[in-house]
Amino acid sequence: MATATAPTFDKGLANTVAAETQMSFIDGGKGVLEYVGIDIDSLARNSTFEETVYLLWNLKLPTRAELDAFCTELRAEYMLPAEMDALIRQFPRSTPPMHALRTMISALSMFDREADVNTPEANRRKALRIVAKTPALIARFDRHRKGKPFVDPQPDLTIAQNFLLMLNGELPTDAMAKALDVCLILHADHGLNASTFAARVTIATLSDMYSAITTAVGTLKGPLHGGANEEVMHMLNEIGTIDKVDAYMAGKLERKELIMGFGHRVYKAYDPRATYLKTFAKQVAADTGNLNLYEMSRRIEEIMDKAVAAKGIFPNVDFYSATTYYSLGLDLDLFTCMFALSRNSGWCGHCIEQLKGNRLIRPMADYIGPHGVPYVPMAERR
Ligand code: SDX
Repeated sequence: MATATAPTFDKGLANTVAAETQMSFIDGGKGVLEYVGIDIDSLARNSTFEETVYLLWNLKLPTRAELDAFCTELRAEYMLPAEMDALIRQFPRSTPPMHALRTMISALSMFDREADVNTPEANRRKALRIVAKTPALIARFDRHRKGKPFVDPQPDLTIAQNFLLMLNGELPTDAMAKALDVCLILHADHGLNASTFAARVTIATLSDMYSAITTAVGTLKGPLHGGANEEVMHMLNEIGTIDKVDAYMAGKLERKELIMGFGHRVYKAYDPRATYLKTFAKQVAADTGNLNLYEMSRRIEEIMDKAVAAKGIFPNVDFYSATTYYSLGLDLDLFTCMFALSRNSGWCGHCIEQLKGNRLIRPMADYIGPHGVPYVPMAERR
């Protein structure tokens, strides 16, 4: 039993360590992110999403044989249960994708006989299914809402290639698949962010992995967290052209409004994921005729650098992922689904970590209301 210490109120838990992890390390002051000790820039330049998922879950890089076996396991789980197609076709076409995704992840549990089996082996298999099946969930919902026929995943394609094939109905170019694969690497895990913490709270009650990931999807949806990338794109569209950026930003800063894609609870330096994404965003934007979006983003960054960098506010991962996803042809309201598609790997990894040395997560609340209040009969109430 942990020794009782005097409780302290840490609003937003900004200064509270609530878990130990071996997956990702963040140095917010220096702008460092490592997955199992490997710098995020090295992984983004050299790894693949599948290899990164293996690294996070096994705490080591795979040999060629291990990676091939892991990919074979993932690909065997690409397809959805047949009943899921019928369920997705019942969704209102106007459903916001993150509502659909939260529902679909939850629904997957009904077709998994191991849903409530909480052994490490069963949880690893469920983690694999969730990572392998989420691309099809998102793509099928998007095809449904557009009245298009579903496209099945191909067992010889990577997760990034398959997602773009299932979404667009045609194989992506190598450049497009690579760009998405890098985004998936960059979003895979990030310490105890809000949605990961939420997942840990859920699994710590010995509830099931599907419930934990459903919790995480709902938490990621918020614009202060994963929903920021979609808001960044709305901002760029609202500005319209680069000659309007300065006036727009002057107004926002004057009104002390939050600029989406900037600031971070932990990073008080440049988000290292934004560093690499920025170069990628420029390349993909140039290749797809969207360089104007990149140039507008750069101008916004210059203005923010002058205005708030001294306060430790810099671009975060969402700022340049917006231009990248838009250039890949994704609808704005799918951007946060992409974040979830990747973060499934971190969330599931943290669920498995939590169960290794589990203790129910149950903080305190400081009661600030009155005491000794009498119960007043209804007839006497005013
Ligand atoms: C993600 O935690 C993670 O790791 C998350 C994530 C992950 O990989 O899981 O990295 C992904 O969620 C990235 C963040 C995406 N969110 C946004 O881009 C939304 C905009 N950002 C802000 O809402 C804000 O920066 C937060 C919520 C991200 C962090 O805010 P904090 O730590 O609670 O800090 P705060 O709100 O107390 O702000 C401190 C000061 C305030 O000014 P003062 O009142 O002191 O004068 O900085 C200002 C804030 O107004 N500020 C901003 C700002 N972010 C903070 N001012 C303008 N624009 C911003 N974006």
